[in-house]
Amino acid sequence: MSRAPVGVFDSGVGGLSVLREIRARLPQEDLLYVADSGHVPYGEKSAEFIRERSQHIAEFLLAQGAKALVLACNTATAAAVAELREHYAELPIVGMEPAVKPAAAATRSGVVGVLATTGTLKSAKFAALLDRFASDVRVVTQPCPGLVERIEAGELDGPHTRALLRGWVEPLLAEGCDTLILGCTHYPFIKPLLRELVPESVRLVDTGAAVARRLEQVLGERGLLAEAGGESAVRFWSSGRAEQLARVLPALWGEACAVSSLS
Ligand code: DGL
Repeated sequence: MSRAPVGVFDSGVGGLSVLREIRARLPQEDLLYVADSGHVPYGEKSAEFIRERSQHIAEFLLAQGAKALVLACNTATAAAVAELREHYAELPIVGMEPAVKPAAAATRSGVVGVLATTGTLKSAKFAALLDRFASDVRVVTQPCPGLVERIEAGELDGPHTRALLRGWVEPLLAEGCDTLILGCTHYPFIKPLLRELVPESVRLVDTGAAVARRLEQVLGERGLLAEAGGESAVRFWSSGRAEQLARVLPALWGEACAVSSLS
């Protein structure tokens, strides 16, 4: 048993979609969340830059006493998880990747679409994922530059967001995709809009719940789960404008909370 908190981070608000799943599955855990909003989006930045930021944030979270890290970001996982695991060999680190395996198992048309950042889609980790799990299906990838910025601004349903999304999704449907992978943690927040743009029969697959299950497993194996029951707390930091994160927390996290700044 351990009362120490779990550290979670993303380039911005996207990881809140994962934090919600962790909170629902492990309500007894104290959680620390860092939004690297001063450097969002990661999707168009170099892998080296993302590795530097991930290392910096990991150090900050460890200094706050984190017993485990969750990279609630597909792009940061692709760029930095291997290096972080090497650097902090004893620390449980949970990363995330687009849900290619479940999508390949679920598709009936044999065509799967992947919406993700440019960084994720061009990474070696994503290529390895396709080699491993997608040999029997056709995978059509679609980078979504500009979408993360709309979500950061809280524009989950505005005309600009809708037009962007329609422009990416219609070609995927025309290719015969019956399963769409949300390969970026920001995208679950535009799921209601996406549902309006695709037929009901199209499956939308994301990985937040699987990451929460994996975290529970990893903490359990190491005897690090917090004892059930009792109070627990969630704390937030942003490297961007703290008041901007505070402004969107009620909609994206479900309650208003204080946000501190970090560099
Ligand atoms: N939320 C992130 C992901 O899962 C990164 C978005 C971005 O900053 O480009 O990939």
